[in-house]
Amino acid sequence: MKPLSSSLLFLLCTLLVRSQEAVSALNTTSRCRNVPGNPGYPSAAEWDALNATVSGRLVTVVPSAKFCASLAGGACTEDQWTSAQFRATIPGAMEQPNWEQGYDLTPPSLCLQNGTTCGQGDVPLYSVEAETVADIQAAVNFSRTHNLRLAVKSSGHDYLGRSTAPNSLLIRTRNFQNVSFSDSFFIGSTDMGSTVTVGGGAFAQSMYTEGKANGKIGVGGSAATVCIAGGWVQGAGHSALSPTFGLGADNALEFEIVVASGELLKVNQNSYPDLFYALRGGGAGSWGIIVSATFHTYPTFNATHSVIYLAAENDTVTASLATLHAEHIFDWDSVHAGQYFWFLKNGTGTSAPSILFLDTYMPNTTVEQSQALLAPFLNASLALPGVALVSQEFTYGDINDALYQPDDNVGTNEVLGSRLIPTSIYRDSPSTVGKVYEKLLENGAAEILGHLVAGGKVAENANISSAVHPAWRTAKTHLVLGSEWDDSASLTEINQARHFFQNVQVPILEELAGPNAGSYSNEADVLEPAFQTTFFGPNYDKLSAIKQKYDPDDLFIVGAGVGSERWDEWGLCRV
Ligand SMILES: Cc1cc2nc3c(=O)[nH]c(=O)nc-3n(C[C@H](O)[C@H](O)[C@H](O)COP(=O)(O)OP(=O)(O)OC[C@H]3O[C@@H](n4cnc5c(N)ncnc54)[C@H](O)[C@@H]3O)c2cc1C
Ligand SMILES: *[C@@H]1O[C@H](CO)[C@@H](O)[C@H](O)[C@H]1NC(C)=O
Ligand SMILES: *[C@@H]1O[C@H](CO)[C@@H](O)[C@H](O)[C@H]1NC(C)=O
Ligand SMILES: *[C@@H]1O[C@H](CO)[C@@H](O)[C@H](O)[C@H]1NC(C)=O
Ligand SMILES: *[C@@H]1O[C@H](CO)[C@@H](O)[C@H](O)[C@H]1NC(C)=O
Ligand SMILES: *[C@@H]1O[C@H](CO)[C@@H](O)[C@H](O)[C@H]1NC(C)=O
Ligand SMILES: *[C@@H]1O[C@H](CO)[C@@H](O)[C@H](O)[C@H]1NC(C)=O
Ligand SMILES: *[C@@H]1O[C@H](CO)[C@@H](O)[C@H](O)[C@H]1NC(C)=O
Ligand SMILES: *[C@@H]1O[C@H](CO)[C@@H](O)[C@H](O)[C@H]1NC(C)=O
Ligand SMILES: *[C@@H]1O[C@H](CO)[C@@H](O)[C@H](O)[C@H]1NC(C)=O
Ligand SMILES: *[C@@H]1O[C@H](CO)[C@@H](O)[C@H](O)[C@H]1NC(C)=O
Ligand SMILES: *[C@@H]1O[C@H](CO)[C@@H](O)[C@H](O)[C@H]1NC(C)=O
Repeated sequence: MKPLSSSLLFLLCTLLVRSQEAVSALNTTSRCRNVPGNPGYPSAAEWDALNATVSGRLVTVVPSAKFCASLAGGACTEDQWTSAQFRATIPGAMEQPNWEQGYDLTPPSLCLQNGTTCGQGDVPLYSVEAETVADIQAAVNFSRTHNLRLAVKSSGHDYLGRSTAPNSLLIRTRNFQNVSFSDSFFIGSTDMGSTVTVGGGAFAQSMYTEGKANGKIGVGGSAATVCIAGGWVQGAGHSALSPTFGLGADNALEFEIVVASGELLKVNQNSYPDLFYALRGGGAGSWGIIVSATFHTYPTFNATHSVIYLAAENDTVTASLATLHAEHIFDWDSVHAGQYFWFLKNGTGTSAPSILFLDTYMPNTTVEQSQALLAPFLNASLALPGVALVSQEFTYGDINDALYQPDDNVGTNEVLGSRLIPTSIYRDSPSTVGKVYEKLLENGAAEILGHLVAGGKVAENANISSAVHPAWRTAKTHLVLGSEWDDSASLTEINQARHFFQNVQVPILEELAGPNAGSYSNEADVLEPAFQTTFFGPNYDKLSAIKQKYDPDDLFIVGAGVGSERWDEWGLCRV
């Protein structure tokens, strides 16, 4: 999407809509979606008819802050505000509330926690809280027929704001929570073996709970409330188990999906193989509404999960620690470990300390073995002047327990930017890692989140034909940079934070990732200028053709998604 083309385009759009209205009612070939006030916008009676069709499950939607203000007591508690579990009960809520704000609308329309005024911002107007496939089909048909902006949400976790849009009708899939295991799942006459079928609104934590009860493990994210069969798998889906079993998309066998025509399709390697290709890595929210997805599972096993905190005294020390980590990153390949290595800076200026949060999962490894595998890195770290061990904890048990989390801590204003970092960098010049970290820190980075979720099986799966960006197959890590702000920030400061990745961090990161490196579209910057190549690499043209076939009128448009170059920032008017 074109960033910040807002006011002029909006005006142009409005004028065009007006002139078309004189000729004929709006339809799907119109330049803009219907919004309240257009003659083509559904009447109250038409909304009521939709509501009757979906058995009363049509609700009006408000921003999360307004929802909280309507509660007894006039507010949510701080625990509620920051709980992903709680926020997922609010149809209009995004987990990070900045995506609810209409910063780029003219005038800006905000609804802040503890605010005194509240605008609808980028929050949908209505939601179908779908419980059946027919509910989804009715809402898709209604959106298509009335030329509405359609938004789709399961958890609202999206870091690119792709599950919300102003003036839209939302379809929420949160109620599709089924998780069921099978010992033999057939595609045609082929038995694909042990699988799990996950509903389009089921949280990762449910898969782990049910997995443990069934003696199975499925590949899932390291979060309580991310929806495995929602945005996660469509983006690629990484896991601490990816070095062992591959990406989520690599493990997907079948999808049930309602496409723009309103049809429910069963999509797998034999049936609609082109859509099957797109749904595995072709980007969240661009293809239809997933009712369920089926994945390979494996017998569960024990693992050692360790959490280690190291403190580094200042930026120079942090950089040395990052280099040391890069030098040791292959130490854990023998057990296909997955690891999150997050550098979090406490304070500003080059003499502020950072904490390294090192969260490691080692399949089929005892605590003693795990400690031995980490010791060379830990010992070398503690030998660095200015590094101290804050705490360490090792736990052995079922991998489902290790991955299970009760909730996710959210509720802040946050944007991300990211790059996949090639294995060759870690092999050939690990000291570049420290140098780049130091520059990022010097230039204001507060969070450098490293995900060791590639290599191993992810690299071995290079021959799978799917839309997963090929950069995943040669990457070792995904590096994610976060940028946050408080509600007290001015719009100028907010826009600085929103553009920080592009303006400041990308040029530094390129030293590490290379000039045309890929990025994981689910943990990324919605303002990436060349998102087609950064998120989808050489697959974009093929994805565009598949989009044209299954969604010729662009019913499913999301920021930085396939086809979004044809639309404004909000997916409301063609550009
Ligand atoms: C705390 C946290 C931890 C995370 N950990 C990981 C991790 O370990 N690994 C990883 O790979 N990613 C991780 N992510 C990123 C995550 O993959 C993305 O945020 C992803 O978009 C979440 O998908 P969702 O469906 O839950 O979110 P939503 O915000 O509900 O949806 C995201 C996108 O998917 C679309 N969508 C949602 N449901 C459906 C559906 N049923 N059918 C079709 N489209 C749908 C939406 O339209 C939107 O475009 C994490 C995110 C958070 C906030
Ligand atoms: C739809 O709109 C386009 C452009 O406004 C117009 O040319 C076309 O005739 C319309 N089609 C129908 C079926 O109303
Ligand atoms: C839809 O119908 C239900 C049940 O009749 C009602 O409670 C709800 O308010 C209606 N939704 C809208 C948006 O009118
Ligand atoms: C809103 O008010 C609550 C309760 O007083 C407080 O804990 C919270 O920090 C406030 N949030 C903001 C963004 O001001
Ligand atoms: C949705 O529209 C399609 C195509 O017009 C039609 O086949 C289907 O019956 C409709 N479904 C519902 C639930 O309205
Ligand atoms: C959940 O799965 C069970 C058993 O497969 C099925 O009977 C039920 O209809 C499913 N529920 C939903 C909401 O899909
Ligand atoms: C950050 O620094 C402040 C003092 O500067 C200290 O009180 C706080 O505990 C530190 N936080 C962490 C997470 O280390
Ligand atoms: C764990 O060990 C068991 C028993 O040796 C084996 O069957 C299983 O494949 C191993 N799993 C992983 C992930 O290594
Ligand atoms: C790490 O340090 C500990 C304690 O100093 C020592 O016992 C151990 O042998 C060291 N291990 C390695 C691999 O250097
Ligand atoms: C950073 O800390 C190290 C270790 O204590 C120290 O040698 C160095 O002088 C410090 N550098 C700065 C810029 O503070
Ligand atoms: C897995 O760990 C549990 C303890 O958490 C233990 O009871 C069980 O025997 C272990 N299983 C295997 C196969 O090692
Ligand atoms: C990919 O290659 C592996 C061996 O390297 C093979 O086992 C697998 O069947 C291949 N998969 C595809 C989809 O070609």
